Amino acid sequence: MDSLGALRRTHNCNTLGLDNLNQEVVLMGWVLRRRDHGGVIFIDLRDRWGITQIVFNPEVNPEPHAKAHQLRSEWVLAVKGKVEARPGDMENPKLKTGAIEIMVSELRILNTSKTPPFPLDEDSEVSDNIRLQYRYLDLRRPEIGANLVMRHTATQAARSFLCENGFLEIETPMLTRSTPEGARDYLVPSRVNAGKFFALPQSPQLFKQLLMMGGMDRYFQIVKCFRDEDLRADRQPEFTQIDLELSFVGEDDIMAIAEGLVKQVFAATRGIALNPPFPRMSYQEAISRYGNDKPDTRFGLELVDLTEKLRGCGFKVFNAVIEGGGIVKAINAKGCGTFSRKDLDDLTNYAGTFGAKGMAWIKVKEDEWQSPITKFFNENEIEAMRQALNAEPGDLILFGADSVAVVNQVLSELRLELGRRLNLTDNSVFNFLWVTDFPLVEFDAERKRYAAVHHPFTAPLDEDLELLETEPLKVRSRAYDLVLNGSEIGGGSIRIHTTEMQAKMLNLLGIADEEAEEKFGFLLRALEFGAPPHGGIAFGLDRLMMMLTGSGSIRDVIAFPKTQKATCPLTDAPGSVARKQLTELHLRPDWKEA
Ligand code: AMO
Ligand code: AMP
Repeated sequence: MDSLGALRRTHNCNTLGLDNLNQEVVLMGWVLRRRDHGGVIFIDLRDRWGITQIVFNPEVNPEPHAKAHQLRSEWVLAVKGKVEARPGDMENPKLKTGAIEIMVSELRILNTSKTPPFPLDEDSEVSDNIRLQYRYLDLRRPEIGANLVMRHTATQAARSFLCENGFLEIETPMLTRSTPEGARDYLVPSRVNAGKFFALPQSPQLFKQLLMMGGMDRYFQIVKCFRDEDLRADRQPEFTQIDLELSFVGEDDIMAIAEGLVKQVFAATRGIALNPPFPRMSYQEAISRYGNDKPDTRFGLELVDLTEKLRGCGFKVFNAVIEGGGIVKAINAKGCGTFSRKDLDDLTNYAGTFGAKGMAWIKVKEDEWQSPITKFFNENEIEAMRQALNAEPGDLILFGADSVAVVNQVLSELRLELGRRLNLTDNSVFNFLWVTDFPLVEFDAERKRYAAVHHPFTAPLDEDLELLETEPLKVRSRAYDLVLNGSEIGGGSIRIHTTEMQAKMLNLLGIADEEAEEKFGFLLRALEFGAPPHGGIAFGLDRLMMMLTGSGSIRDVIAFPKTQKATCPLTDAPGSVARKQLTELHLRPDWKEA
């Protein structure tokens, strides 16, 4: 192995071109590919920035050529040499450095490498587990590396936008008390306080509110949050928020800042000029038209409520559902009248995985409606459906009949599935949508009490205040989510800023005074000392980066992500600990040591 000695890198592997002809340069990097051509050895040298071809010619420089024979993939090199033009037919227009090559006069081998467990120069099928176990090799692949570069650009853009707008970047504690955001806490036992635990923050929610009470006025932080919840393709147990809080503001102020931030991030990362303000839609409308609160508005296929039109109809299944207080909704899958029996069976099975008991369908034809259920409807009902669904020959109508919740979920999932099948989800389109007026609380059937839809610090809408005690489920909140192409990339609210209202809210959530004092006493007290009106929002940075990079998984935009089981194959975390360490933490394990 050679040492670097006095050699200094003059350029990275993505800069040299015809302007540099005949210059003597020093490059450093990894061996990506090696080709031997009748005595001459060509190597693609790779670093973070790109690739440059280096050449070992025995007739020009025999000594480095002799040494180059042993080079293998991922060996680490420093080379000195002269920039030369490639022969015309050897130019590679795909590479930024494709017009030149380096004729090597000095080679230093800085390190060798084992054969990597997967090739780094092609998009090969590698299991996620292996990729994560050798994440440092995975990061050398251009796609993943590029995602991290774009993530850096995005956070820099966000930071500079927020600084320009008077925000202070302030850190909040990681070892803290539970901050409820609807997930389980990661707990950290305290050694010096027997039987007491810190919780890692699910978000900096309470601290950012306390900062407003501390007069900081505008705060932001790019911050890790921890949630011990079931993982999905767009969830990680630790993830990053761009977290903001502002004083003396209403919804419009916060949305304008959020839009400005997103606009700057899109311009910096993708050169895309967004055009805010983004459209807004109430929660009610989103549920009614799309069946969920984060609609993908890149395509139509909206849900249409047929309950009133089909009340008393001759189709027993629908009638029974309607009589029982349920609903019937349908989607007009435009032009899908050609779907085969198998297509329909697949869709029915898919609907079944979301709780559908069946999926009635009708193919709209010129003079008759083809379906096993057409015969149950009279002419008026058919005509009412035709109008409500704008049904035309060639269309396919899909029905859901069940409770409100089941119908909305089933049809919203069917709608998304149709969108994918019909290629309506164009990733070069970015459709933003604010969803507003969320319900303040929902009923948690398991725990038999109300739970906050956003979090317990979100203010109710003034005009719904009188319903707070009588019909809490009807109270709307001052919460808003930012949705991008069907993904919730941010959420926030105007907060409660008086002690009375906060106490009332905790009460409504079934948190008794004593528990409220124990959990949130510090907040209730702070509210008594002149808390300003305030509100904020947090963006899910990882989800935003997923959309910006067009990645299929949140893991592709995080340097060291965790698996679906919340483990890290690279470090093998979480790991076991010695009994002694547990005793020090005042924990008595009841499992047997291996
Ligand atoms: P919320 O819980 O809606 O709000 O979180 C804000 C945003 O964070 C992202 N997010 C996640 N991303 C990856 N993995 C997860 N497990 C995960 N959970 C959430 C989402 C979400 O929109 N304190 C409030 C914000 C506020 O009120 O200001 C909060 O945390 O993109
Ligand atoms: P059945 O009378 O059960 O044979 O059902 C007739 C048609 O109605 C079939 O296509 C079923 O898939 C459909 N169907 C049954 N239950 C439901 C439901 N809850 N919602 C929508 N379609 C249903």
